[in-house]
Amino acid sequence: MTERPVTTTDAGIPAPSDEFSQSIGPNGPLLLQDHYLIQKMAQFNRERVPERVVHAKGGGAYGVLEITEDVGQFTKAGLFQKGKQTDLLLRFSTVAGELGSADTARDPRGFALKFYTEQGNYDLVGNNTPIFFIRDPQKFSDFIHSQKRRADTHLRDNNMQWDFWTLSPESAHQVTFLMTDRGTPYSWRHVNGYGSHTFLWYNAGGAKFWVKYHFKTDQGIKNFTAAEADAMAASDPDHHLRDLHTAIKNGEFPTWTVQIQVMPFEEAADYRFNPFDLTKVWPHADYPPITIGRFTLNRNPQNYFAEIEQAAFEPANMVPGVAASPDKMLQGRLFSYPDTHRYRIGPNYLQLPVNRPKAPVHSYNKDGAMRYENPSDPVYAPNTVGGPAADPQLWAGESWDVAGEITRSAYRLHREDDDFSQPRALWEKVLSDVDREHLVTNIVGHASAPAVTAEMKPRVVEYWRNIHKDLGDRVAKGLGINGG
Ligand code: NDP
Ligand code: HEM
Repeated sequence: MTERPVTTTDAGIPAPSDEFSQSIGPNGPLLLQDHYLIQKMAQFNRERVPERVVHAKGGGAYGVLEITEDVGQFTKAGLFQKGKQTDLLLRFSTVAGELGSADTARDPRGFALKFYTEQGNYDLVGNNTPIFFIRDPQKFSDFIHSQKRRADTHLRDNNMQWDFWTLSPESAHQVTFLMTDRGTPYSWRHVNGYGSHTFLWYNAGGAKFWVKYHFKTDQGIKNFTAAEADAMAASDPDHHLRDLHTAIKNGEFPTWTVQIQVMPFEEAADYRFNPFDLTKVWPHADYPPITIGRFTLNRNPQNYFAEIEQAAFEPANMVPGVAASPDKMLQGRLFSYPDTHRYRIGPNYLQLPVNRPKAPVHSYNKDGAMRYENPSDPVYAPNTVGGPAADPQLWAGESWDVAGEITRSAYRLHREDDDFSQPRALWEKVLSDVDREHLVTNIVGHASAPAVTAEMKPRVVEYWRNIHKDLGDRVAKGLGINGG
């Protein structure tokens, strides 16, 4: 028999017993001096950090990105140079459900990447869809409230969801995606990822480009039907978590092909629609995807809580060669994520092993709860005593011109800034007959939930008729209204 280590307290002191509390006599009352018992009970009461306010249920794995093509003409970012290999963490998730909710619920899937680059962490916090429900961060908390639970019954409520969506026509493209079978993936290994936003790339000479990221699953897209997803939710709510863990444990490492779409900087102003609108894709015919590399997931975390629950992704983590665009959603997200991490995990979350960069940190930030590494003197900048100094040249290129009056509006400045053309293209050009049939039955099923009122149903039909008359008519027929 292998020799077992002695149990200790968290302070490393040998523990007095694995079974018995200290009592007065074998059946007597317990003693406050039993520090080990008190420590066990008190630590247990503090085991949870708050779950993520969205994307609470998820799982992830480590891997490596390899760049196979030369894109140095578009960006100077070290991780995107040909031949470069960079370690990464990828966390998948559902959006609306809580920590214990079923993996196969109809929802977008989070696709959050953290690259541990030589220039610090680069996080790309995307989804398995290239678009989103809204285009202004002002509406994000309202949107999420409509997807989660009611105030009175604490139940989720499809009526509330349709109320929000039908009053927010910009949601049409994303809701179309969601209601296809891509809303119920077979596994995380079988989803694409998208950076979704438009980002700025700039090269060593300062030339600028607008870029979108696509991560295409090499396993192929594979979805459940609504009935299969429901059955799996009942039989194995952790199916996606189990599938990924098992595949990696068995050496079946999933891979994704990395592609980018590149728009020359000057073309954005006159493009036919706002290229920074998160409810739109860039059609492939306009900006063909270019393959630049591949990444592989090859290592499971050893401790779920430490490495996945406490993983902190933030769209603001960008390295020289990559920068934000005027996408208002991205702008809002730059603030939101580090703010929620400071609340959920603590102000020094970046010192946890899963979040700490592999690049050296020379920051002037210091102290705070649970910090264990601090800058040495000098603790201020500027200084004359050899402290770290910023190099603004590294960031030469991360800018664009802005001018205008302060406003609260979204002017339709581009010819095709409408909400329905792209979901219409999806219905007309991309979906197969079977995909369309499932889209209709999925919508009808969702809008037939008992909570959905008779007044809401015509609004649902109208929403889909705006995308395509046939689609709206088929939904009306399924819902048994409007003579359908
Ligand atoms: P394309 O015909 O060039 O591209 C259509 C793309 O749609 C495919 O390349 C595929 O991209 C994706 N797709 C295929 N089947 C489905 C499905 N069942 N559900 C959702 N997406 C699917 O046309 P466009 O580029 O002009 O786009 C037409 C429409 O396709 C868009 O309005 C949008 O709704 C949808 N689409 C477009 C994407 C883009 O980046 N241009 C990306 C995804 C969807 P993929 O392999 O990335 O899933
Ligand atoms: C998680 C806010 C839009 C993808 C989160 C979290 C917050 C948040 C607060 C929880 C983070 C945590 O506790 O770790 C917002 C806001 C948005 C927005 C304010 C819009 C203004 C989006 C969009 C996408 C996205 C557009 C995808 C393109 C994700 C993902 C996660 C997440 C993948 C989970 C990250 C992880 O795995 O830890 N979001 N979000 N979000 N969000 Fe968003």
